[in-house]
Formats: sequence, C-alpha cells, structure tokens
Amino acid sequence: MARCFVTRSLPGTAVDRLAAEHEVEVWPDRLPPSPDALRERLAGGVEGLLCMLTDPVGADLIAAAPDLRAVSTYAVGTDNIDLAAAAERGIPVGHTPDVLTETSADLALALMLAVMRRIPAGDAEVRAGEWLTWEPARLLGHDLHRATVGIVGLGRIGQAVKRRVEGFGARVVHSGRTDGMPVEQLLEEADVVTLHCPLTDATRGLIDEAALRRMGPDAYLVNTARGPVVDTDALRRALEEGWIAGAALDVTDPEPLPADHPLLSAPNLVVAPHLGSASHETRAEMADIAVDNLLAGLAGTPLPHRAN
Ligand code: DGY
Repeated sequence: MARCFVTRSLPGTAVDRLAAEHEVEVWPDRLPPSPDALRERLAGGVEGLLCMLTDPVGADLIAAAPDLRAVSTYAVGTDNIDLAAAAERGIPVGHTPDVLTETSADLALALMLAVMRRIPAGDAEVRAGEWLTWEPARLLGHDLHRATVGIVGLGRIGQAVKRRVEGFGARVVHSGRTDGMPVEQLLEEADVVTLHCPLTDATRGLIDEAALRRMGPDAYLVNTARGPVVDTDALRRALEEGWIAGAALDVTDPEPLPADHPLLSAPNLVVAPHLGSASHETRAEMADIAVDNLLAGLAGTPLPHRAN
C-alpha cells in the first residue's frame, strides 16, 4: 500500500478504486494546494501524486520528494510538469489524451461561433434591456461557413476541430511543427485562427504583436490551447485598436484572469474559465484514466498513457 496525494476532489468514483488499494489523501478545497502544502506532502512520504494542470510540478519539487514513484495528471497537457526531471528519477508521468479530444473540439467551436456571431454581446444586450426591436444592422458578425479557418497545431484536437469546421463548410488551412504552411502565411490567410498547439519554448508568445498585426480587422483568434501561447497585452491592444475583429479564449495568461484585468475591458472578447474538457462524461473518464495511470505507475507496470 502506497501513500497517494490527490490534489483536488474528482468527479465520479475513480478515486475510490485508488483508495481500495492505497492510502489516499484528497485535497478538500476548491482552490489548489499552495506550493508549500504540495511540497510538504511530497517531502513527507507521498509515493503517488495525482495532480491537476494548476499544480506546478517542477524539478525542485521532484527533487524534494524522496519517495515519489509515480505522477498522474488529470489533463492531456503536461506543461506544468518537468517531464525530464521526472524521467531522470525514473518516475513515470501519466496524462489523459484522446478521451477529451472531441469535448475540447466542441468547446473550440462553441467559442468560435460565440465570438463570430456575437452571442455573449447579444445576451448582455437582452439582459440590459437594450433589445428595443429587430434591427437590420445591429450585432452583425461573420459567417463561419464562408471563413477560412487556420488551425495552428493539427494534432488530435486540431484534427477534431478540422472535421467540425469542414462540416460547417469552412475552408481549412493549417500550420504545424513539421507540416502545413508557415504560421506567418496562415495568419495572413485565415479569417479565424484557432490554436491547438502544446505550450513549449517554441510556442510561448507565438501570437505576439507582430502575429496579431498580420491578421486582418475581420479576423478572429480562438485560444483553447494554453494562455501563454498568446501575448495578453498585445491581444488587449489588438482588440482595442481593431487590428482583429475579436477573440475567444478558454485559456488566459495569467490564469485565472482576475475580474479587474485590463484584458476584460477590451471589446469583442469572449472568455471561458478553461472549460475545454468540462463535460460530465469526459471529466469522469479522465478521472478513470488518471487513476489507471497512477495504479500502473505504483505497480511498476506500463502506464496506459505515459507522457515521459
Ligand atoms: C488539458 O487536459 O490539458 C485541458 O486543457 C483541460 O481542459
């Protein structure tokens, strides 16, 4: 029986399966454990860590965890974990690919349509009592079916977005690490730029001022990847000064975005609080996979989904 720390309460019953075999502590709060609380657990004998994308698991934390044998993250993205430092210690890191692909692609489409067809702006007008009558030229947006959609990162989620927007009748171009068109060309050609790349040294700040200026005043940016792929201040200026038509974000930098953050005063912006995988079904399946990964890591058998 190993000591395990689960950094948030998970939906479904997966953690019960972990607790049937191991000694499990689940962090009870809505907010994540502080770095000190996490370090204290890991320094104090935890062998199995089931963490969230909000828990930084850097080399220093891994070095301070003498008994740690397996890490499992409740996410597909692993940018919060030093995979190499874990591998050096022989610690396998599990993650949850595939299961959230379609759910995350659905959310990207929802955001795309929301910003292009001005749904949150219209909702706000109705609630503010500003729906005076049907008006020929109020709250006009742009059509997805007429658009060229530029997908940055044609991995699992990017491909699922491609299938969806092609179903809408849109033309698709893409740019990837090793295939597709140069990102500069994509930014110039696309009416909608949707980001599906991982956060790496190469993609951090990819959408900066120069990139946003390459997009046109009728173009939209959708980010459901990771917040730091986009330069937040440059995006604020792009929206305020009309370099682009609008943006829809499921991820931000910083994350969470404080309610008084200057970005939120920019026009034509839709923001969701990192809901990409947030359906009942998908989050329960992610919990199962995360627990399966941790159980395998602690048993010394191959993880169903290993990231390092
Ligand atoms: C992930 O799993 O990395 C997603 O961002 C969660 O929504």
